[in-house]
Amino acid sequence: MPPLLKSAAAFSVIAFLTACGGSGTEAETQSTPAATTPATEAAPAPAATPVADPVATPAAAPVGEPNAEFASLPAPYNTADYALGKRTFKLCVSCHLTAEGAGNLVGPNLHGLFGREIGTLEGFVYSDALMEADFIWEPGHLDEWLANPRAFLPGNRMSFAGVRRPEDRLALIAYLMLETGYEAPETEETPAP
Ligand code: HEC
Repeated sequence: MPPLLKSAAAFSVIAFLTACGGSGTEAETQSTPAATTPATEAAPAPAATPVADPVATPAAAPVGEPNAEFASLPAPYNTADYALGKRTFKLCVSCHLTAEGAGNLVGPNLHGLFGREIGTLEGFVYSDALMEADFIWEPGHLDEWLANPRAFLPGNRMSFAGVRRPEDRLALIAYLMLETGYEAPETEETPAP
């Protein structure tokens, strides 16, 4: 017996029951999907397609390569969140430029910051606090400075409260490395993660 005939027979029974007003609630609920299928054949496709696609695409995108931009940086900066770093840097843009030769704003240009002695950018007038401080900028000092500039170097003129969350600072420092032309020190070997 061909299955087509069987289902056709089943359908006509259901259709018959539906047409007659059914034989109770049990028959009605069972017959509903089968009975509607032939009448609205095109319905399932348009209903499903537009809803599923836009939801799936943005959710899947960031999973691929989250920090490809930071891949060349030393650990732990290579695992930092690029979008977070870029966003956190917005706290600095009113006072600092990072492009080479772009000049100073209220604060000194930060290009070439890593590896530079604190308070030594030519053409910028620093406070005594920065002039008297004596170290070379590297990620560790920057982390302390950005956590709480006032406590790290009392008397400095950078009116900035600090970046409280460590993960924001990590991402910000990684972002600064990219933006200011960081080059890994040749003498130091990058420790394996
Ligand atoms: C309101 C303006 C302002 C903001 C906002 C600001 N800075 Fe500054 N920054 C300054 C000033 C002014 C100095 C110089 C301070 C001094 O001489 O005492 C400075 C100095 C610095 C220095 C030392 C540079 C050197 O040549 O030794 C670094 C590094 C720095 N800022 C990074 C940042 C970062 C990163 C941010 C954002 C999280 C930031 N600053 C936000 C004004 C600002």
